[in-house]
Amino acid sequence: MTPDMLYALRDPAGIPSHPIVFLVLGVLTLALHLAAVHVMLGAGALTLRGAFSASPHWRRLAAAMLSTSKIAVSVAIVLGVAPLLFVQVVYDPFWYTSNVLSAWWVIGFIVILIGGYIAMYMFYWKNHDIEQDGGRGGIWMVASLALLLLVGFIVHSLTNQMLFPEQWMAWYAPNEVVDPSGRSLHYWHLPRFGFFISLSAPVTGAWLYAYRRYLQGSANPDAAYLAWLQPLAHRLMVIGGVVSVLLGALWMATLPDKMAWFATSPWVFLALACLLATVALPRLLGKRIDDGLWGYAVFGVGAVALIVVGAVREVLRFVTLRGVHGYDALDYRINMDWYSTGLFFSTFGVLGAVTMGYLLTVAWQAGQTQGTYTPSPALNRLGNAAIGLLVLWTVAYFAVGFFVWAR
Ligand code: HEM
Repeated sequence: MTPDMLYALRDPAGIPSHPIVFLVLGVLTLALHLAAVHVMLGAGALTLRGAFSASPHWRRLAAAMLSTSKIAVSVAIVLGVAPLLFVQVVYDPFWYTSNVLSAWWVIGFIVILIGGYIAMYMFYWKNHDIEQDGGRGGIWMVASLALLLLVGFIVHSLTNQMLFPEQWMAWYAPNEVVDPSGRSLHYWHLPRFGFFISLSAPVTGAWLYAYRRYLQGSANPDAAYLAWLQPLAHRLMVIGGVVSVLLGALWMATLPDKMAWFATSPWVFLALACLLATVALPRLLGKRIDDGLWGYAVFGVGAVALIVVGAVREVLRFVTLRGVHGYDALDYRINMDWYSTGLFFSTFGVLGAVTMGYLLTVAWQAGQTQGTYTPSPALNRLGNAAIGLLVLWTVAYFAVGFFVWAR
C-alpha cells in the first residue's frame, strides 16, 4: 500500500479543525475510556470474588462493586464513542479499512456488548441483597465479564489491524481469492491486550482507596470494614502493577520489527515511571491517605498515568504510520469550521461541567448524609441551569440544522 493510495482514502472534504486537536482529544478520551473499562472489569471481578464468600466484608464489597461495575459499563461505552470519533477523523484510511476487513465483528461488537450488559443485569436481578443472602447465579457474571472482554478484544484487533497496511491485501484476498465476508479478525497481539486489561487491577486498587476515603466521610464509618479494605487496595495496586509492567515488557519484547525502535524509546520509560509512581503513591502517603483529599489523589494520579500511557500509545501509532507508511496525520487538509469547533468545546466545557458538576455534587452529598438528603438552594439552581443549558443546546442544534437545510 503506497502513501499515495493511503492519501487517496482520506475524506476529500478535509477536517473541521487542526489535526492536533483531534489527536489530543483522542488521547484524553481514550484514557478516560480505559479508566472506566478498568473499573468496570476490576469491580466486576471483585463482585464475583466477594458475592459467594462467607465473609461479610467481602459480600458488602461485592454489593458495592456490582453497582459500580454496572455504572462503569455505561460510562465505558459513552467514553468509548469519543475516541472512536477522533480516530476515524484523522486516521480514516486506516480505521475504515480495518473495520471493513472485519465488518462482521464490527457489527457483532454491538450485539456482544448488549449481551454482556444484559448478563450483568441478570446477575443483578438474581441478587437483590448480596450482603445478606450471598450470591446466586454466578454464571451470569462470568458470562458478562467474558463478553465484555470479547468486546475489548475486538476493538484491540481493529485498532491493531490499522497499523499493517502491508497486510491488508493478503487479508482481503488470501491466496488471491477475494473474501469479502468480513468474518475474520486478522491480527491481535496478546501481550498488548493483556497489558491494557491487566491495568484493571492497579486502577481498581486506586478506586478502592477512593471508595474507602468516601466511606470515611460518611456519618457512621465502619472502622473494621475500612481497615479490611486498605490491604486489599494495596495488594491490587502492587501485585496488579507488577503484572501489568511484566506484560508491558513482554509487549515491548515482542513488537513487530517495524515497531521495534519503540521498546527502548524514552516514551516507554516515561509511561513506566508514571505507572510506578502511581503504585508507590499510597506507600509514600502513609497515614496521610486518610486526610483531606489524599485518598482520592491515588485515583487522580492513576488517571494522569493513563493519559501518559494513552499518549505514548499514540506516539507508537503516529510514528509507525508516518515513518514506515509515509502517512502524516498532521498534514490533513483543514476546512476550518469555527461553529462546530466552538459548539464542541462549549458543550464539553460549559454544558458538561455544569451537568456533571450538579450530578456529582448531589451523589457526593447524598452519600455523606444520614437520613433524607435535601440539596441546598444553590445546588438546585445549578440543576436548573443544567436543564436550561440542555434545552438551549437542543434548540440551537435543530435551529442550525434547519437553517442549513433551508438555505
Ligand atoms: C465494554 C467493553 C470494552 C472493553 C473491555 C474495551 C477495551 C479497550 C481496550 C483494551 C482498548 C485498547 C486496545 C489497544 O490499544 O490494543 C480499547 C480501545 C478503544 N476502545 Fe474500548 N473497550 C470496550 C468498549 C468499547 C466501546 C463500547 C467503544 C465504542 C463505543 C470502544 C471504543 C474504543 C476505541 C475507539 C478504542 C481505540 C481508540 C484508538 O485506537 O485511538 N470501546 N478499548
